[in-house]
Amino acid sequence: MKFPVLEVLDDLQVALSNNPLVILQAPPGAGKSTILPLELMNESWLKKQKMLMLEPRRLAAKSVAQRMASLRGESIGDSVGYRVRFDTRVSDKTILEVVTEGILTRMIQSDNSLEGVGLVIFDEFHERSLQADLALALCLQVQQVLRPDLRILIMSATLDAEALKKSLGEIPVITSEGKQYPIRATTSKNCIGCSESASGRSGRCVGFLARGGRDTTSGRSGRATFFRSSCTHLVCRSFL
Ligand SMILES: Nc1ncnc2c1ncn2[C@@H]1O[C@H](COP(=O)(O)OP(=O)(O)O)[C@@H](O)[C@H]1O
Ligand SMILES: [Mg+2]
Repeated sequence: MKFPVLEVLDDLQVALSNNPLVILQAPPGAGKSTILPLELMNESWLKKQKMLMLEPRRLAAKSVAQRMASLRGESIGDSVGYRVRFDTRVSDKTILEVVTEGILTRMIQSDNSLEGVGLVIFDEFHERSLQADLALALCLQVQQVLRPDLRILIMSATLDAEALKKSLGEIPVITSEGKQYPIRATTSKNCIGCSESASGRSGRCVGFLARGGRDTTSGRSGRATFFRSSCTHLVCRSFL
């Protein structure tokens, strides 16, 4: 399977090798968090230094690291590890560390030059928080004052890149369109895609989710559940 993010990998590699700060925009499921970091591990500009990836939540940090380790057929803490509050799984072999926000700011505060780090990735940057903004400001400062070779990659599905450019200046923005699947919206008492019935649920369809097995979302009108049918369609069922 070819992940959408791989279609822009060449452009991203060129952008990162020539620019200290790059933005990647790609829709959910494109492979930003679990595929792309693995593809960047051997970049020459990393000069065999580590990569740090910032995840806003602890659970996401651990599961993303776990997924990448298993894609490499390794245990967590080998070449891919994580550092979250009260839980660290890294070793001397670790070259990709997934960390949470407080951890990254502490790392910068204890080592002002981020020695041994070649790339810092800010995942899910649209979530914006004081901690993430502070971490970005600190990384930019490290880059400007001590480490012009340090790369920063900002990733998001929904980031307003133009607004960010206003504060950060002219930055290359690499965009992946992702893949879209035809959807069919239906209203019925029984789901087309599975045998579940609607009993006990309420709400109205509010849109559709990215490709996947089954998921729920909520919106102004309530909750809706989406089922992937056996064919390529996503079948959206609304409960009235
Ligand atoms: N732990 C996992 N097990 C199985 N598939 C996964 C797992 N994590 C991610 N995926 C799949 O890998 C693909 C890329 O996911 P991800 O890297 O999280 O995308 P993005 O960060 O762009 O939203 C998606 O199709 C997703 O469903
Ligand atoms: Mg992601």
